[in-house]
Amino acid sequence: MELTSTDLSPRMGSQVNVTKADLLGGAHAKAIRALLDQRGILLFRGIHPSDEELRTIARTLGDLRIGESKRGADGATLKEGDEGVLKVSLDAKVNPEYARFLPGNHLWHMDGTYEEVPPLATLFTPFKLSREGGDTVFANTYAAYEDLPADEKARLDGLHVVHTMQAALFPAMRDCTPEEFAVWSSYPKRNHPLVWQHRSGRKSLVLSTSGSHIEQMHPSESHDLLERLMRHATQDKYLYRHKWQMGDLVIWDNTGAMHRVMPFDRESGREFHRCTLNGEEPIRAAA
Ligand code: OGA
Ligand code: MN
Repeated sequence: MELTSTDLSPRMGSQVNVTKADLLGGAHAKAIRALLDQRGILLFRGIHPSDEELRTIARTLGDLRIGESKRGADGATLKEGDEGVLKVSLDAKVNPEYARFLPGNHLWHMDGTYEEVPPLATLFTPFKLSREGGDTVFANTYAAYEDLPADEKARLDGLHVVHTMQAALFPAMRDCTPEEFAVWSSYPKRNHPLVWQHRSGRKSLVLSTSGSHIEQMHPSESHDLLERLMRHATQDKYLYRHKWQMGDLVIWDNTGAMHRVMPFDRESGREFHRCTLNGEEPIRAAA
């Protein structure tokens, strides 16, 4: 049977009609991967996956990222990605290691821009929703590139951006301690092309708040250009804003899209479970 879907916005996102059994069995895995590449995010409603089911679905689609199996200070709490499922929560009791990095999720970003091969995609499902706020918004960075004038495309194709943890986190955590700032600064930086020529031949902008500056460009020119591109790429016409329902499973493409979470009450207990698929190609500069 062919996979059927409905567009969620003209240029971003599709809701896919598929049973949970078919998702678990991988019946449509190839078609789902192709649709994810085209539409940036896929929504499946009424799935209610357990952690085990989330891992199973992830494995039908790609290479599931497995974290380290270290225990937290109290000997009980699991670290990021332990057994392949990360609990995304601002509550340090739920995720002691990572809660303090998560304020960065409020700003436009791609995940893993510090890695040579950034993650391919993330599977995301709510465990507890906030009463208000907490929508996740996605921006199509293929479409944002496609719409640029030809001369600008040619100019951007040759540029490289340095991505740093402090660029990603400082704007979201201006009240950080000097120690926190020092920890961020100790993270390795990563240089990526500004325009990604994917194996498929398509090109996308590699934009993220982690983008600190453009190499070999005056800092103020670099700052203005990155800011202008970020404004361009996050215009309404490139976005899909997701209002969560329990049972949703969303898969986002981390190679041709940015995402961010809208504000919500820190005390709400908002918690999502996620599986990450490892990347399959480094960010290659446009020829
Ligand atoms: C993430 C992320 C957004 C959200 O987990 O990488 O950006 O809606 N999450 O919590
Ligand atoms: Mn993220």
